[in-house]
Amino acid sequence: MKIIKKSKEIHDLFKSFNNIGFVPTMGYLHKGHVSLIKQSLKENKNTIVSIFVNPKQFNNKKDLKKYPKSQNSDIKICKQLGVNYLFIPNYNEVYKWKTKKYKYPKIVNFMEHQFRKGHFKGVLMVIEKLLNIIPAKKIYLGEKDYQQLTIIKDFIKINKIKSSVVACKTVRDRGGLALSSRNKFLKTINKNTAARVYKLIKEYKKNYKNKRFEINNLMKWFEKNKLKFDYIENINIKKFKREGKVTKNSRIFIAYYLNNIRLIDNI
Ligand code: PAJ
Repeated sequence: MKIIKKSKEIHDLFKSFNNIGFVPTMGYLHKGHVSLIKQSLKENKNTIVSIFVNPKQFNNKKDLKKYPKSQNSDIKICKQLGVNYLFIPNYNEVYKWKTKKYKYPKIVNFMEHQFRKGHFKGVLMVIEKLLNIIPAKKIYLGEKDYQQLTIIKDFIKINKIKSSVVACKTVRDRGGLALSSRNKFLKTINKNTAARVYKLIKEYKKNYKNKRFEINNLMKWFEKNKLKFDYIENINIKKFKREGKVTKNSRIFIAYYLNNIRLIDNI
């Protein structure tokens, strides 16, 4: 595995290869990231993983400062998996490139945006820069961040960028908690609560009435258990809109807090 810090150097690879899969990450790699990397290794001759904690997508400076890092273990994981190139740029290497004007999909201002203003624009800013540096054939993203996945897919489509998105299933721990770098800050008791939340949502998924999820009852459960949440929504993922009834395109999206750590999930 080759570790590259310079964006020009990684960009130049595309003169000699074209079958490249790209897995963008912010590091502190876990089994969720690993599943994306494995999928890319399976489908491409060469896989590039990037590790870059993108300041532009953090609407909260404290959150950025305490974002977990583990570069040595990340390098080890990538090496063991057989990653070909690991791109670890600094801020300037990513943002020094001038790029053209892009169109933003409408859903950047929806749902998560209400609670993390500017977050998705920051994500798109870095994706746009990274895809200029790494014009990969396929980019691997997780369903864990389903709104992000949809926004990046739409962004690529409306701006006619020549990469295709591969969506990868959410990886969970035994109790059902979706893996996330931020889980580092959870205690065992929080993880047990997260497992209850996962089970509860799955129950709601099974037992919806009159083709409607009883979202209000779910909210009441959170209130009764004194758990703070930002939203619990039934979203039609084809239109990416709120919906009352349940269809085959329905997904429940949730953002809630445990030990002051904000968790998002969708089922
Ligand atoms: P990060 O949180 O490091 O996640 C990198 C990728 O791993 C994303 O596509 C995310 O959806 C996926 N992922 C995270 N947890 C997962 C899980 N439990 N199961 C499956 N996939 C999972 O998301 C970002 O970084 C950044 O916003 C980024 C896209 C890199 C732009 O800065």
